[in-house]
Amino acid sequence: MKRRRESKIVVLASGNGSNFEAIVKHIKERKLPIKVMALVTDNPDAYAIRRARKLGIPVKILPFKSFKNRDEFNRRLLDTLRSLNPDLIVLAGFMKILPPQIVRTFFKKIVNIHPSLLPAFPGLHAIQKAYEYGVKVTGVTVHFVDEGVDTGPIIMQECVKIDENDTVESLEEKIHRVEHRIYIEAIKRVLSID
Ligand code: GRF
Repeated sequence: MKRRRESKIVVLASGNGSNFEAIVKHIKERKLPIKVMALVTDNPDAYAIRRARKLGIPVKILPFKSFKNRDEFNRRLLDTLRSLNPDLIVLAGFMKILPPQIVRTFFKKIVNIHPSLLPAFPGLHAIQKAYEYGVKVTGVTVHFVDEGVDTGPIIMQECVKIDENDTVESLEEKIHRVEHRIYIEAIKRVLSID
């Protein structure tokens, strides 16, 4: 039987990196034909870096504050991504908005996960906003990245119910559990891996 070529992905994260870890672990456990080329981060203090080192994934740190300005950071990010030549760029809590040039260079090759049912509650603090609004159902969205903020075509969504006795913290936990399960499913779908 012919072995399929490994798909190459790069994960971009700025913080905790729990989604990054869930993705890498799933790939390893299931021996999926996906190679995680690198974790790229703008934050030298990101906990995701420690996770990457433990998991044996190369790390590229582009410390945002050490660049003269945003354009210079964006140029370096574009160069880094080009050199890694990924089939898919996976945003997992990356706190910088990608500039149009990167979005156009990797058209339909960048995905993001957002902790609400888009188009509801785009932007920052989506879990808290949904909780405070009092919606009874929120959820998780995986979507392609376009030039807007959390506006690209939706790939997958899953609902999360908010119960009477939920707190923001318990809701956060429920949402993360769903994220860790569905992000890799969406990635597999985009890469046509079953
Ligand atoms: C997730 O809730 C994701 O939806 C949002 O940022 C958070 C990242 O969490 N985009 P983690 O760093 O993967 O733990």
